Amino acid sequence: MAVTHPTWSPDSWRSFRALQQPEWPSAAATEAVVARLKASPPLVFAGEARALRDSLARAIEGKAFLLQAGDCVESFNEISTQRIREKLKIMLQMSAVLTYGATLPVVKVGRIAGQFAKPRSDLTETVGGVEIPSFRGHMVNSELPSAEARVPDPQRMLEGYNQSASTLNLLRAFTKGGYADLTQVHLWNKDFVSSSPEGRRYEQLASEIERALAFMAACGIDLSSERSLQEVDVFTSHEALLLDYEEGLTRKDSLTGDWYDCSAHLLWIGERTRDTDGAHVQFFAGVHNPIGVKIGPRATPDDLVQLCEVLNPDRVPGRLTFYARLGAEHVREALPPLLRATRDEGHPVLWACDPMHANTIRTAGGVKTRRFDTIMAELEGFFAACWEAGVWPGGVHLEFTGEDVTECLGGADDVLEEQLSSRYETLLDPRLNARQSLDLAFRLAELMRSR
Ligand code: PEP
Ligand code: CO
Repeated sequence: MAVTHPTWSPDSWRSFRALQQPEWPSAAATEAVVARLKASPPLVFAGEARALRDSLARAIEGKAFLLQAGDCVESFNEISTQRIREKLKIMLQMSAVLTYGATLPVVKVGRIAGQFAKPRSDLTETVGGVEIPSFRGHMVNSELPSAEARVPDPQRMLEGYNQSASTLNLLRAFTKGGYADLTQVHLWNKDFVSSSPEGRRYEQLASEIERALAFMAACGIDLSSERSLQEVDVFTSHEALLLDYEEGLTRKDSLTGDWYDCSAHLLWIGERTRDTDGAHVQFFAGVHNPIGVKIGPRATPDDLVQLCEVLNPDRVPGRLTFYARLGAEHVREALPPLLRATRDEGHPVLWACDPMHANTIRTAGGVKTRRFDTIMAELEGFFAACWEAGVWPGGVHLEFTGEDVTECLGGADDVLEEQLSSRYETLLDPRLNARQSLDLAFRLAELMRSR
C-alpha cells in the first residue's frame, strides 16, 4: 500500500471540521487522556488488520461473505463473561448456518470491544419537561436522565479503552481456546433457543455438520491437526466517531512503516460524518486499516466515487466497504445507480447491507423499534439490486444481542407491540434477539442459495 500523504499525521484531522464531537469541558484534561492513550499498548495489531483486509478482498470477488454484528452501543454496565459469550455464540451459530447453507467462508466482525460512542441527530432531549443534552455513548457521558450525568467526561475514553481490552482478551481466549471448535457446534445453541422451531432447525444442521466431520475423519483426515476447525478469527469494529480516542490509539507499524488505528481491526465512518472534506474522512485517509462507510439515502453516485478516491486512491481490494442503509422502500431504486458508479469507475468496493438503520420506526406509544419483515425486505432488495448490477452482495451489518430481549417486532419469535416493554434493554437502537438473529441467518442462507 502506498505511503500516507506526507502532510498527514495522526493529529492533522484537527484542522478540518469534525462533526459530532463532544464538547469536553476541559481541553487540558482531554489532552492528558489522549497522551495516556498514546502511551498505552495497542488493542489490535497491524498484521491482523491486514489479514482482515485480505478476507474482505475475497468477499468482493464472491469467495466469502461478511457478517458484521453486535450492539448498537456497548454499555459500561455490562461486561460480564456471560454477556460476551452469548454474543459470540450467536455469531458462531449464524456463521455456521451461513457457511453451511451458502457454502462460503464467513468473515466474522463484531460491533464489539470499542462500540461506545454514538452520533445523534438531536443534540438534546426533553425528560420530564426539562431539556438535557443527549446520551452519546458511555465513552462520552452517562445514559442517566439528568443534565449533570450528560456532561461529557474525557476519563470515559480511558474506561472505554480498558473495557475494550478486557472484552477483546476474552474473545481471543474463547475463539482460540477450543470454544469455537466446530465439534462444539451443538453447544452454541442456547436453552431458550433450542426448544424453538429455528433452534430445532439449527440442531439438525449441527448434526449434519457433525456427520460431515465424522465422514472426513473416517476418510483418514486428521481433524485434530486442522487449525481452521478448532479456532476462528473474530475481528473487532466500531464506529470511529471520537477522533481524540482514535488518534490516541494510532500507531506506526514497525514492519511496513504505515499508520494503523489500533483501536479495532475495522473502523467505520457513519452516515452523519462521511463528508469528504470533514475530519473523519481526512483522518481515515491516512490509516491503513480496512475502512467502512455507511451510505444513506441522500448519498449521490458522485459522493461515492469521491469517497473511493480519497479513502482508497490506490484501489486496494478489501480496504473499503460500503454499507447500504437505504430503507426497505427505497433500496430497489436507490441502490442501482450507486452500485453502477463504483463498478464503472473500477473501484474495488465491498458492498454490504445494513438493513437496520433506515428501518427504525416508533410505535404509537413512542417506543423505537424495527420490524423483522422490513429488515428482511431491505436485504432482499439489496440482493436483487446487486445481482442485477453484476456486483457481489458481500455481507450484512446487523444490530443483535445474544439475549432474549424484546426490541424488534416479528420474526419467528413473533414479538408483538404489546410485548416490547417486557425486555427492552438497549441503550439506543432496537436489536434482534437471539432467535430473530438465527431466523434471519436461515433466511439469508436461503436467499444466497436461491441464486
Ligand atoms: C449505527 O450503526 O449505530 C449508526 C448510527 O448508523 P448510521 O451511521 O448508519 O446511522
Ligand atoms: Co444503531
